[in-house]
Parts: sequence; C-alpha cells; structure tokens
Amino acid sequence: MKIGFVGAGKVGCAFGTYLKKHGFEIYGYFSKTFASAERAARLTESKAVLDLAELVKNIDILFITTSDDAIKKVCDYLVEKKLLSEGKILVHMSGAASSNILKNAKEAGCFIYSLHPLQAFADIQKAVDDLKNTFFSIEGDEEKLHVLENILKTLGNPYFKLTDNQKSIYHMAACVVSNYLVTLMDYGLSLFASIGIDERQGYKALYPLIEGTIKNIDRLGTKEALTGPIARGDVGTIKNHIAALKDNVEALDFYKFMALKTIELAKNKDENKDLKDLENILKEVE
Ligand SMILES: NC(=O)c1ccc[n+]([C@@H]2O[C@H](COP(=O)([O-])OP(=O)(O)OC[C@H]3O[C@@H](n4cnc5c(N)ncnc54)[C@H](OP(=O)(O)O)[C@@H]3O)[C@@H](O)[C@H]2O)c1
Repeated sequence: MKIGFVGAGKVGCAFGTYLKKHGFEIYGYFSKTFASAERAARLTESKAVLDLAELVKNIDILFITTSDDAIKKVCDYLVEKKLLSEGKILVHMSGAASSNILKNAKEAGCFIYSLHPLQAFADIQKAVDDLKNTFFSIEGDEEKLHVLENILKTLGNPYFKLTDNQKSIYHMAACVVSNYLVTLMDYGLSLFASIGIDERQGYKALYPLIEGTIKNIDRLGTKEALTGPIARGDVGTIKNHIAALKDNVEALDFYKFMALKTIELAKNKDENKDLKDLENILKEVE
C-alpha cells in the first residue's frame, strides 16, 4: 500500500515521517513550493514530485495535507483533470471539515475520509514526537474505513470514529479546550498586570496552579476537581471579587459568566449545596 501527500507542511511532513518510522511506504510529495516537497521527501526517504499526475498514479492512499482552504480545490482539480482512478483512498487531516469536502472524488469512484490528529503542531520535529501520544478521529466511507483503522492500530494511536454531522461539535470541543484556555490564561494575566505583576512572572507563578488543576481533572474528572470559593459557597469572597472589578465592566461580565457556569458544575458536584445566594449576586445588574 503506497502513500502520497499533497501539501508538504508541518502535518504532511510529520505524519509522513511518523508513518515511515512505522514501516509504511511513502511514495512521495507534491506541494505548492517544490522546495517543501523536497524537504518532505528527504525526511521520509521518498520522492519530491513536480507532476501531480505521477504522484496520484503511483499511490493507493492520498493525504491532502494542504491548508484547509486548499483541500477542496486540490480535490476538485484532481477530479476535473481526471487524475483519480476508481478505488483510490483520499484523506484530509483537517479537524474543521468532514470528509464531505472531498465528495467530488467520491463521485469519481474514490473513497473519502477525514483523519484528524487531536494535537497542536507548531514544528515538524516536535510534531513527530507528539504524534506518539496523539488521539485521532476518523470519519468517512464505511467500505474502506478498516484501512485507516488498521493504519492507526499499527501506529498504536487511539481514535474516535465519528459521523459526518458530529465533526463540527468534535472540532468545537477541541477548540474550546485548547484555544479558549489561552484566552482564559490571558484574562488571568491581565488581572495580574492590573496590579503590576508582569506577564512572564505572573505566568510562572500561575503555572504550578494550572498544572495541579490539570492533574486533578485527570485523576478525578471535572466535577470532583472543582475547588475554590464557588465550590465552597463562599458568598463574601465572591462579593469581594465583584467589588474589585467594579470599574472594569468587560472583565466583570466575563467573570460573572464564568462564575455562573462554575455554579452549574458545583451543583453537579454537590446537589445539596445551596448556591442560590451566590447565583443571585452574580445575576444582579450593577
Ligand atoms: N498544525 C496543526 O496543529 C494541525 C493539527 C491538526 C490538523 N491540522 C490540519 O493539517 C492540515 C495541514 O496543516 P499544517 O499545519 O501542516 O499547515 P502548513 O504547515 O501551513 O502546511 C500546509 C502546506 O500545504 C501546502 N499547500 C498549500 N496550498 C497548496 C496547494 N494548492 N497545492 C499543494 N500544496 C499546497 C503549502 O505549501 P508550500 O510549503 O509548498 O508552499 C504548505 O506547506 C490542515 O488541514 C490542518 O487543519 C493541523
């Protein structure tokens, strides 16, 4: 089973290298810039190709690892130029889209999939290392799904099987925990900055707290990991927080929104806890 890639960026290079290390045969790479294809070919002991037709003819599975916007364009180009023969497997690795963006290839007799590594890859070498501990999701045509499942089994990576219409929710969840965690950190650091604690020092101070919290979630789950004034029902403390933010409406709105969400979690943790007073304070309009 020969594998080819269109798009020799971080994921194309890293996943190709990872596949190669596990004994898969990589035929080669086509990319917008030939130098990128050459770099990927060196990493995977494969071929940099200038002619897309040559790549597609020589492979069984084609990974389209371009930027998201180019995936459909590449697929439609392959269909339009009649480069795809029946039975080829086409895979993209975007978390945002389902296999449906490759549907024109399906009409040309191919099998279409999305295979998404649930990981943030900033550079190729680190990505190859990180892939070892990465969960994947797969979604697409039932008929050849086992081919991708077998690849993941050989690689030793766990995976979810999704349907086309579950993909957006799955991707949203990943964005919330990854991207919005950064936003949350930025919010905390801006509160530190408002009392003169510089960002780097503030981050160093908060890091052990974050790490401890992640470990608690890992060990106990989100409900049981919840500690702090809301979980305890400390009305006075929350009143002080609100008073301290009274001149910063935007920061206060965000605080109240998150606090009300946290009350829901605290109620799930201990349904006998009376959190009504806390809820009323947080819902009060200034
Ligand atoms: N990075 C992540 O954390 C991550 C995680 C999970 C999934 N993904 C998914 O993986 C895919 C690739 O992402 P990436 O981070 O590897 O992006 P990237 O580093 O920007 O690489 C994309 C590559 O695609 C090539 N390309 C763009 N348009 C092309 C076209 N029309 N024809 C041929 N090649 C083209 C670019 O070419 P040249 O270099 O040749 O100019 C670039 O090297 C995306 O679908 C993304 O959503 C990324």
